[in-house]
Amino acid sequence: MKADYKQAAKTAGDYYDSADADAFYAAIWGGEDIHVGLYERDGEDIAEASARTVRHMASKLDLAPGTRVIDIGAGYGGAARYLARKTGAQVTCLNLSEKENARNRKLTAQQGLADKIEVVHGVFEDIPFPDDSFDVVWSQEALLHSGDRRRVLKEVSRVLRPGGDFIFTDPMQADDIDDASAYQSIYKRIHLPDMESIGAYRAMLKDLGFETIEIEVLTHQLRNHYARVREELKARRHALEDRISPEYAGRMLDGLKHWVEGADAGQLAWGVLHFRKR
Ligand SMILES: C[S@@+](CC[C@H](N)C(=O)[O-])C[C@H]1O[C@@H](n2cnc3c(N)ncnc32)[C@H](O)[C@@H]1O
Repeated sequence: MKADYKQAAKTAGDYYDSADADAFYAAIWGGEDIHVGLYERDGEDIAEASARTVRHMASKLDLAPGTRVIDIGAGYGGAARYLARKTGAQVTCLNLSEKENARNRKLTAQQGLADKIEVVHGVFEDIPFPDDSFDVVWSQEALLHSGDRRRVLKEVSRVLRPGGDFIFTDPMQADDIDDASAYQSIYKRIHLPDMESIGAYRAMLKDLGFETIEIEVLTHQLRNHYARVREELKARRHALEDRISPEYAGRMLDGLKHWVEGADAGQLAWGVLHFRKR
């Protein structure tokens, strides 16, 4: 699997660059964020709940003008714009989708933040920056796409300065399920070879010399989120038919159902994971 990280990156790039995916994420999430939201009530707006996740993560960090942040797998750059606007941090968005990067640059310029945000095309298995370049590495719902997560974590460690923070969210498998076959239907439907668990991330990061600051387990929000996205896509798929193909929408509805069922079966995990490089 490890030698395949370039293949996994290509698969992710082709997927996020596709017209269907671009239209789906922009239309359903609102064009800024594409990650799990924090919901405070049923039926809440997806963009609102997703923006709340960014604010919640940011509240755990000490960010100030000039703090150097890199968001790995940055999507449309919604988190970067929030961090730059609210704290004055200098944010680098690293992402392999040219389509998303183009939208990111456009939104960043429109919002007058081009002097604070740099959008770089690249993969997080080979972060194109020297050692100790950043005070914070940030990531949301991106590491699951990697074919070699240990390599990504090594890269995170390399580009972080000693004492720097690594904060991320990622859909994961539950720690206490040893039966790999339990995941096969989920992985097959979501086109992933596997996912990490909280325990596996902790162990790998400990090996790399990271201290655990906080593990906030919020798996119910993963369930809320995928159910909410499914509901929204179901309600709007016909209205969006000129932008999102019926085949894509059908496959997505099916995949989302598996996420919800996996969460209900206790097979999945999600939360905010915060580590510090010693
Ligand atoms: C679900 S989206 C999340 C985007 C963004 N973090 C957010 O929360 O809005 C996953 C992102 O990971 C990016 N990605 C996947 N594999 C990557 C890799 N190997 N290197 C860099 N980015 C990658 C995709 O291009 C996509 O932008």
